[in-house]
Amino acid sequence: MSFGLEHKVVLITGAASGIGKAASMAFAENGAKVVVADVNESQGLSVVNEILGAGGEAIFVKCDVSNAEDVQNMVDTTMLTYETLDVAINNAGIGGAPGRTIDIDHKEFTRVMDINCTGVFYCMQAELKEMVKQKSGVIINTASIAGLRGLPNSLHYVASKHAVVGMTKTAAMEYARQNIRINALCPVFTVTPLFNPEAMDQFKEGLSDKLKSGIPMKRFSTPQEMADAMLWLASDKASFVTGHALPVDGGLTA
Ligand SMILES: NC(=O)c1ccc[n+]([C@@H]2O[C@H](COP(=O)([O-])OP(=O)(O)OC[C@H]3O[C@@H](n4cnc5c(N)ncnc54)[C@H](O)[C@@H]3O)[C@@H](O)[C@H]2O)c1
Repeated sequence: MSFGLEHKVVLITGAASGIGKAASMAFAENGAKVVVADVNESQGLSVVNEILGAGGEAIFVKCDVSNAEDVQNMVDTTMLTYETLDVAINNAGIGGAPGRTIDIDHKEFTRVMDINCTGVFYCMQAELKEMVKQKSGVIINTASIAGLRGLPNSLHYVASKHAVVGMTKTAAMEYARQNIRINALCPVFTVTPLFNPEAMDQFKEGLSDKLKSGIPMKRFSTPQEMADAMLWLASDKASFVTGHALPVDGGLTA
């Protein structure tokens, strides 16, 4: 199936690992030029090398999405290198230390909000300035099912992901007439370094099985399944889809 993404310039944050890495590989396989952005330089460079080794095109930009100057530099580097920004995937995120609401450390709350929420705001703002000038673009923000419902022991994460969904909907309405589509992807538990079933069980015995049993399809997701949904959202096959928060969740939020 062709998504028509050949030669498109695709910027992906949090691209060094997990869902962002799977998306980087998938877009590169579909002929896109990928800007691999991450705070983790060594892993980011190794994703770029994998893409180049497979005959694709990619560059690495070191960026902490919670730092507005870093984010501006990431977008400026993309424009200097490729002269356009067709698709931006704001995917970088952290889980935050789990705990009941009264136990969440204030600094940890702020850290999660700075990266997951403010980071997406900084990214969208810098990306939209270019997309408005070029009168086209697609933005995909990685939210979570935690952007659609509560999740015990994760108040800070849930707050940040509800914010991502709200920002996505608002910006989508603002820029719909300028040929810019903005959607959020809402993954369920996906096996990556961020969601490690063994670490879940160490936090609380039997927790990973309990989480899995709550998903109608009775399994966790793979990063590839998220990348596949991103390919569709980024493509013209989703040309009338904007302001949507798309659960990819095996039926959890059904
Ligand atoms: N894995 C899941 O179960 C799951 C479920 C729902 C949503 N998500 C969301 O998917 C996104 C990707 O998560 P993942 O599971 O692939 O995690 P991951 O830990 O495998 O990858 C996250 C990447 O983000 C990078 N990153 C972290 N802080 C950053 C910062 N300040 N600036 C730039 N990069 C930064 C990390 O270095 C890492 O490469 C996150 O937004 C996460 O909240 C994940």
